[in-house]
Amino acid sequence: MSAQAQAAGLGVYVHWPFCLSKCPYCDFNSHVRAGIEEERWRAALLAELAHYAADTEARVVTSVFFGGGTPSLMAGETVAAIIARVRSLWAVAAECEITLEANPTSVEAARFAAYAAAGVNRVSLGVQALDDASLAFLGRRHSAAEALAAVELAARHFPRMSFDLIYARPSQTLAAWRDELGRALTFAGRHLSLYQLTIEPATPFAEAHARGDLALPAEDAAAALYEATQEMMAAAGLPAYEISNHAARGEESRHNLTYWRYGDYVGVGPGAHGRLTIAGAKTATRQHRAPEAWLARVEQHGHATRQRTTLTRDECREEMLMMGLRLKEGVDRAHFRRIHGAELEAALDSERLARLTGAGFLELDSRGLRATAAGRQRLNAVLGALLA
Ligand SMILES: C[S@@+](CC[C@H](N)C(=O)[O-])C[C@H]1O[C@@H](n2cnc3c(N)ncnc32)[C@H](O)[C@@H]1O
Ligand code: SF4
Repeated sequence: MSAQAQAAGLGVYVHWPFCLSKCPYCDFNSHVRAGIEEERWRAALLAELAHYAADTEARVVTSVFFGGGTPSLMAGETVAAIIARVRSLWAVAAECEITLEANPTSVEAARFAAYAAAGVNRVSLGVQALDDASLAFLGRRHSAAEALAAVELAARHFPRMSFDLIYARPSQTLAAWRDELGRALTFAGRHLSLYQLTIEPATPFAEAHARGDLALPAEDAAAALYEATQEMMAAAGLPAYEISNHAARGEESRHNLTYWRYGDYVGVGPGAHGRLTIAGAKTATRQHRAPEAWLARVEQHGHATRQRTTLTRDECREEMLMMGLRLKEGVDRAHFRRIHGAELEAALDSERLARLTGAGFLELDSRGLRATAAGRQRLNAVLGALLA
């Protein structure tokens, strides 16, 4: 699908906020509960979909993404009901990508057949590491063998499959990571997400880091790990198309491309964000974050929208650059003009731009603006220098 056709489509994000336990590095909106009434949750998610369909009726859905939390804790009937409701509320593209994030335990893998029958055609598995000591350190509930069995099962059930690994873990050497990634590639499909461990505020890892009990690789060691990753993935035919995402050509996550290309998406469920073009203006939406407060509001009002704001031209420009420069393809010139109403050159400070292109971090040409490999490696600093 071309960037332009996709930008005209609509993504649908569904957030499932529950996990069996909380991993010590994770600051996603995920919560552990002794039990939940799944029928109430299902009805509430269906209600929020209907609420946002009213704003986006004429749009064609090009992707659905079940994220979390742990969506693989959802019953197959819940996933089926949500997909059926999306199909009844919107026109759905023939090649619509329907992804579900799954944790690779055997219990969850047992639900794969039901998800595939419900219409899920892509799974993204949180494998995270390939040895049991690292998995225990990361607080995971699965062994490496269990995770790899889930990967193999997923490859049989779904046409498309990806998995996540977390690298640059404490004291992980370059040789050890090369070995782990090499092994991962023997199990990989046509997409892999490879994240450097980050210390997120207010997590147990942040506390351990502050106490001096958890040390990340130094900057130059982390850079070497990143470069080795890029090189190995390109050699394996799965080059990076985004900072942490690697795929064979045409196998990129279409849903995530919608975010990075600044397309429109509906977000339902606790804490979900959306971006919708309504009456020609980009509108940011955000749902209540706390699960029980979200549920109570949806049951009372049909939705739990906490924020619905029209973004200014400047806010759109910033968001579009922050998202688009994560991609290897960068920000498309014509798409930028359509959204921002001005050429890239007119929208950016020429001195800052010249400094960053001169230093080899950005490239600007007839196609648009993009970050070089060196620029993507330090994107936050580049964005700071470009937009400050
Ligand atoms: C929504 S999360 C997890 C989905 C699923 N619940 C799981 O754990 O497999 C998506 C991915 O973000 C990555 N991630 C989360 N926190 C991270 C952190 N602090 N550093 C690096 N990667 C992180 C993990 O690879 C994870 O699989
Ligand atoms: S990494 Fe996944 S399983 Fe672990 S707490 Fe975060 S969302 Fe839940």
